Amino acid sequence: MFQTMTAPPPDKILSLSELFRADTRQGKLDLGVGVYKDPEGRTPILPSVATAEAAHVATLQTKAYVGPGGDPRFVELVRDLAFGSEAPVTRIGGVQTAGGAGALRVLAGLIAQQAPEAVVHVPDPTWVNHHSVLADARLRTTSYRYLDAASGQLRIEEMLSDIAAMAPGDVILLHGCCHNPTGADPVAEDWDRIIDAIAARGVLPFVDLAYQGFGDGLEQDAAALRKMAARLPELLLAYSCSKNFGIYRDRVGAAFVLSETAEAAGIAKAQLGVRNRVAYSMPPDHGAALVRDILGTPELAAQWRGEVEAMRRHVASNRAALAEALAEIDAQRFAALGTQKGMFSCLPISAAQVDRLRDEQAIYMVSDGRINLAGLDAAQAPVLARAVASVL
Ligand SMILES: Cc1ncc(COP(=O)(O)O)c(C=O)c1O
Repeated sequence: MFQTMTAPPPDKILSLSELFRADTRQGKLDLGVGVYKDPEGRTPILPSVATAEAAHVATLQTKAYVGPGGDPRFVELVRDLAFGSEAPVTRIGGVQTAGGAGALRVLAGLIAQQAPEAVVHVPDPTWVNHHSVLADARLRTTSYRYLDAASGQLRIEEMLSDIAAMAPGDVILLHGCCHNPTGADPVAEDWDRIIDAIAARGVLPFVDLAYQGFGDGLEQDAAALRKMAARLPELLLAYSCSKNFGIYRDRVGAAFVLSETAEAAGIAKAQLGVRNRVAYSMPPDHGAALVRDILGTPELAAQWRGEVEAMRRHVASNRAALAEALAEIDAQRFAALGTQKGMFSCLPISAAQVDRLRDEQAIYMVSDGRINLAGLDAAQAPVLARAVASVL
């Protein structure tokens, strides 16, 4: 069986991390990783998570199985965090999943089961794993126009005309906030037009919310999702707690279906449980229990909100520093950087220029120019800007 097996293509982000580790040059800079880093360059355990973890370990009585849907209280609390207090909760069914990627895969499986002919339209560009996850579920995919790479601006008119050409019943994958890799998010008026177009066309939104709290704030970053939930009959949400709880390796996420009726939501929830069951029986409990305890304890929840805000501000101040430094080099070319959201942006430079930055200056970024602004510190911004200028 294995003699004819072919090697998978290398993961461009993971192989970049290996190259970075092997680089012995002083002052090397890793802007390729997909995790938050604090000003000391660490990916910290949030104090709220450490507190919840100590209490949880001290009081835990059993490690008996949880159900295929995970911990129902966790699911309710994450639902409320994402959909907000006005959510049509009776029409939302959800389960806990192994991270946001698990949620994406479980929901992709649900689409494949329920509407195998549906085409899933993903933004161009999108997170590379979207393509792999959707292909793994045997779904047909295509891209819609999203970013103008040269200007870094959203191609809103083209996006709307692509939505108008989608077949009713097709699925549109949307980044709820902090688009990865570009940081180019629709503004509120754009979202209104996108939602109108989706409603008019009868396509199903599949929202990926992996960075709530890293754009404009926890509530603001969920605004587009909440508008969709208020307006549209159905939607899917893949939620990741990895970044906003800094709990990456514990694999914490949730998958939700908004249905037209409470009865359909209950059935969708049961089907999501089946998708969990066939993939890994049930999601891991530990990290989800910590998130549940944080969100369910008002003082810890308030502390955590402050910690998310501090991470957001740190990334935003790095972004502002780099935008200012690059504006001195070419104000027009880099104009969008300062307006983009979240940890990522794509610098408008070629793959060959990315290679030169790595080879000549030990600066690592993804070949499409994606940088993680948390990988920088504000003092390094002018150094990075000069390095970029040297390869233009
Ligand atoms: C856009 C997007 N969606 C989903 C995820 C999944 O995150 P995780 O599976 O680690 O929770 C990521 C992680 O990088 C992401 O960038």
